[in-house]
Amino acid sequence: MGWSKERLEEVARTRLNGAKLVIVANREPYIHRYRNGEIEWIRPAGGLTTALDPVMQACGGVWVAHGSGDADAQVCDEQGRVGVPPDDPNYILRRVWLTKEEEEGYYYGAANSMLWPLCHQVFARPVFDPAHWDAYRKVNQTFAEAVLEEAAGGPAMVFVQDYHFALLPRLLKNARPDLVVAQFWHIPWPNSEKFLVCPWAKELLDGMLGNDLLGFQTQGDCNNFLESVDRSLECRIDRERFAVERSGQDTTVKPFPISVDPALADEYLGDDWEARAALVRKKYRLGQRPLLVGVDRVDYTKGIPERLRAVDRLLHKHPELKGQFHFVQVGAPSRMHIPAYRHLTEEVEGLAEKINWTHGNWAWKPVVFLNEHYGAADIFVLYRMAAGCVVSSLHDGMNLVAKEFVSARGDHQGVLVLSKFTGAARELTDAVLINPFDVDELAEGMVTALHMPPAEQERRMRRMRSIVEEHNIYRWAGLLLSEVSKRVPDPTPEMESASTTAQAPHNHAAAATAVEERIARENFLTAMHLASAGA
Ligand code: F6P
Repeated sequence: MGWSKERLEEVARTRLNGAKLVIVANREPYIHRYRNGEIEWIRPAGGLTTALDPVMQACGGVWVAHGSGDADAQVCDEQGRVGVPPDDPNYILRRVWLTKEEEEGYYYGAANSMLWPLCHQVFARPVFDPAHWDAYRKVNQTFAEAVLEEAAGGPAMVFVQDYHFALLPRLLKNARPDLVVAQFWHIPWPNSEKFLVCPWAKELLDGMLGNDLLGFQTQGDCNNFLESVDRSLECRIDRERFAVERSGQDTTVKPFPISVDPALADEYLGDDWEARAALVRKKYRLGQRPLLVGVDRVDYTKGIPERLRAVDRLLHKHPELKGQFHFVQVGAPSRMHIPAYRHLTEEVEGLAEKINWTHGNWAWKPVVFLNEHYGAADIFVLYRMAAGCVVSSLHDGMNLVAKEFVSARGDHQGVLVLSKFTGAARELTDAVLINPFDVDELAEGMVTALHMPPAEQERRMRRMRSIVEEHNIYRWAGLLLSEVSKRVPDPTPEMESASTTAQAPHNHAAAATAVEERIARENFLTAMHLASAGA
């Protein structure tokens, strides 16, 4: 049987034994902001929130995240809680407030100037700043307090996301040994030589070994992590079971390649996608020419300059293709407070301008760079219109744009040009696989996409679609939950056992509290729903 939202709901209901699900991720799934004096909400760019929102919609529970929108506080209760999705709430978002200094040191500093370059093989030098590290520790503690509040009063499973929270699992386990804690590391894990240059490597590893289950995108990432642990901490590594035992705590380390909900494509495209596509063609003067598209946050791991240099190379090598296609790059602004990201935006703008000047004319601009936040509905129209989608990450844990593109192509047309250095390349082997550092190979990959006969496009796309349909986000979450639920205490046998009658009231009490909490949560969401409906 395949994985669906319904099957995941069932797994969450049966395997969590009434334990509350608390997800922690730095980025919130919905941001409230002011536009023209009014409050609006948007969904942020980036794969993590897109992937996890459907999981929360299926399982229910609480998502703890940094409240980063300028109108976020306006719509929350005094605890920082708001029901989401804002137009039809069915789970709770608990926002954590950070000071500017904390955000600077923890998010821009330790997370995105130290761990991000440390974990990606893109030759960007990590910044090791003790002040950033202090802020990182402090913010992990702040999140631990918020999670403990949300998990109070009964059994709970906490599912921690990503490199922003390496210390959180240990903090949670120390405070509440009964909590079941799992973490998924969405980005790659480097080899041990690279990782162990970090002055706080041991603390990071120890924090992560507070987890019952630690998931990575690939087996290679798991092996690198185990090697880093082996070379720096006292512990026992069981390579048969992929587990680490340290101070009496057992952490299972396994790969769980993340994915998307393929069914969302039709929702985003709707019945009017062709009309919206025509508007896009008109707005950017694209005529009826084939499009190659790129959709990314503007991040130096994504290989955007490499891709534009390949467009330039292509036009030099194949002048017959001048005027025959457009390259449309959506580049969502990201982490602009960090100089490397600002410089990258300038570099991409400069390259687009230079290519258009060199090869274009008044009637044809080869590169269209859209440096703005695009909603999912618009992005899916672009995917559907495209002759090809180019994903040229220099290194990427998974890259969900690749899987989204495939999910958008119900017509079985379109070519995926995909970097070999993404997690997605291990599953989507029918893509045109390229080395993004090789400008000629990337340029020829684009030419292949523009020339591929429809029958071959269809053969490849059908195979890729069946992989994304089967290995969908519900399977990812279902397998993770099934694995970690082995650690969730099963109340039934204990309650049935006469010899453990002393524990029974505790379990009954826990179950009763869980039920009461669920009712309170449902009441809260109903109130939020009525509020959002303007009742
Ligand atoms: O895992 C990568 C990640 O940090 C995810 O949170 C998300 O997919 C993306 O990068 C977005 O980054 P940010 O939350 O810093 O905007």
